[in-house]
Order: sequence, then structure tokens, then C-alpha cells
Amino acid sequence: MRDQAEQLRERIGRSTSNNRRQTRLITVTSGKGGVGKSNVTLNFALGLVETGQKVVIFDVDLGLANLDVLMGISTRHHLLDILQQDISLWDIMETGPKGLQFIAGGSGFTQFLQLDDRKVSKLLDQLSLLQGYADTVLLDTGAGISKESMQFILCSDEVFLVTTPEPTAITDAYAVIKMIHSRNPHTQIKLIINRSGSYREGKHTADKLTMVTKQFLGMDVQTLGFVDDDPSVSQAVKQQQPFLIAYPHSPAAKSIRSLVRAHLGNTNPGQTEVGGLRSFLTKIRDMIR
Ligand SMILES: Nc1ncnc2c1ncn2[C@@H]1O[C@H](COP(=O)(O)OP(=O)(O)OP(=O)(O)O)[C@@H](O)[C@H]1O
Ligand SMILES: [Mg+2]
Repeated sequence: MRDQAEQLRERIGRSTSNNRRQTRLITVTSGKGGVGKSNVTLNFALGLVETGQKVVIFDVDLGLANLDVLMGISTRHHLLDILQQDISLWDIMETGPKGLQFIAGGSGFTQFLQLDDRKVSKLLDQLSLLQGYADTVLLDTGAGISKESMQFILCSDEVFLVTTPEPTAITDAYAVIKMIHSRNPHTQIKLIINRSGSYREGKHTADKLTMVTKQFLGMDVQTLGFVDDDPSVSQAVKQQQPFLIAYPHSPAAKSIRSLVRAHLGNTNPGQTEVGGLRSFLTKIRDMIR
């Protein structure tokens, strides 16, 4: 544990930045599992870090949390340790490559939604410390059709939906869009087509999904971009390093940097303001009550 002076300095720094920044919250999900959510979340987060942002990634994949494995770091604490041990959010956060910070939901995280009010409140109070501290918080969820993932999605104003060009993945992605639309039609859904064989294939997949969504749900879904199908991704996974670091000039890394540019370019005046982390935590609190 760090010494008190260090903790105090950090906290003073945080409370000053707290007044300045609005923290953006993005939930990353998919219809089908295994389409690349965790790799996209991690490398996109690093892409944001490269632009100077302070980014925290939070693993809420209830079954198969593995962002730490992808970064080659071993997690000492999980979110629920805040309740079981007398420690704070700052004690459970790990620092990964390039200063990217990481919170592990842990396998016990399923209990989160069943905890009593006082405990949930304590956790949400701790998570709200990220408000103003981080520019962006990214949640890596399990596939969107699970009940728990859906609860996080429904509390988020901004959702990245990852799919591959495979017909089964596209169908499942559409099912998630439909589910979100029926419960919270104002959610901003942004498509990421991962493992695209070519620009043409990526665009064709995205156009198919956006057209069907417009036609049958009357809903506009944006396309954030495409990530190339690239053997560097699985190479990097085996080395337990993010591909943006292990293979910075690979097609997948270049795709991620274009996604980041598209994302940052999207934040134009005129675009509907999203509520960010603050609104997310309020909605979770209301949902659990
Ligand atoms: N762009 C890509 N190019 C090539 N292979 C990829 C790409 N993206 C992902 N993969 C492969 O798919 C595997 C699964 O990726 P990842 O763990 O990120 O998926 P996931 O959607 O998070 O899975 P889960 O639903 O189990 O959480 C990777 O280990 C890698 O081998
Ligand atoms: Mg995953």
C-alpha cells in the first residue's frame, strides 16, 4: 500500500481535475461471443491513451473476464474487494501498458446486481471517483444477450457493438440492437466491424446492418469503422501483449487508430450530448433500487 503523502497528492490532483473533465463512458458489447470485444476494447483504449487521454478499462465480462490476461498483468484485487477489505478504488486499480488503468470485475461480479443497497451504494460511490479523473471509461462486457450485460448496456448512453462479417454474428448483433431499441431507443449505438477481410467486406456488413435497422426499427445506427482480420492479433494474444504495442504498424493497429480518429472526430458540437459516467452510475443506482 502506498504512503499517505502519495495518496494525498493524488487525491488533490484528482479533485482539481474533477472540476474540469466530463468523463465519457462507453460500453463495448456484441451479439455473438468471441468476435473480438476484449481486443478491440483494450487496443482502442490504448489508442485513446496515445492521443493524451486518461483511460480506465473495466472488465465486467461476468463469465470470462480476461483483459488482464491480454495485457500480461496479474490482477491483485477485484471490485468487490472494496466491500470485503477496507480499501478504495485507487487500491484496486492496476496500471497496464502506457499508463492505461484497469479495474477487474472479477468472477464474483455477478453478485453485484444482487447486493444490498448499502453495498451497491458504496461501490457506486467509489466508481464515481473516476468522474473527472478519467477522460474515458470503457466497459468490456460479455455478449449482449446475457441479462447482466444487457443491464449495463441499458444504463449506457453510448455503446460500441462489435461484430464480424459472419452471418451468425450479424444476426446476433441485430438481435442486440433490437433489444436495446425496445428498452432504450435513445442509446447511441456505434458499429465496429472486426475481422474484416477487406474494406469492401466491412462496409458491406455495416451497410447491411444499418439498413435493416433503419427499415425495421426506424433507428439510426452509426458505423464507427472496421478492423482488419489480421494474424498479428492472435500473435499478440499469445504473447500477452496488446497488438497496438506488439505490432504497432500492423493492419489491425492501423485500423484501431482510424477508429480512434473517427471517434474523436465524432465529438462535434451539434452532436447530441451523452450523459457519460455520471449518468451511467445514476441509472445503475435507479435500476438496482
Ligand atoms: N481483428 C482480428 N484479426 C484476427 N483475429 C482476431 C481479430 N480480433 C479477434 N481475433 C481473434 O479472436 C479471438 C477472440 O477475441 P476476444 O477475446 O477479443 O473476443 P471477445 O469478443 O472478447 O470474446 P468473449 O465473448 O469470449 O469475451 C482472439 O484471441 C483472436 O485470436
Ligand atoms: Mg472478451
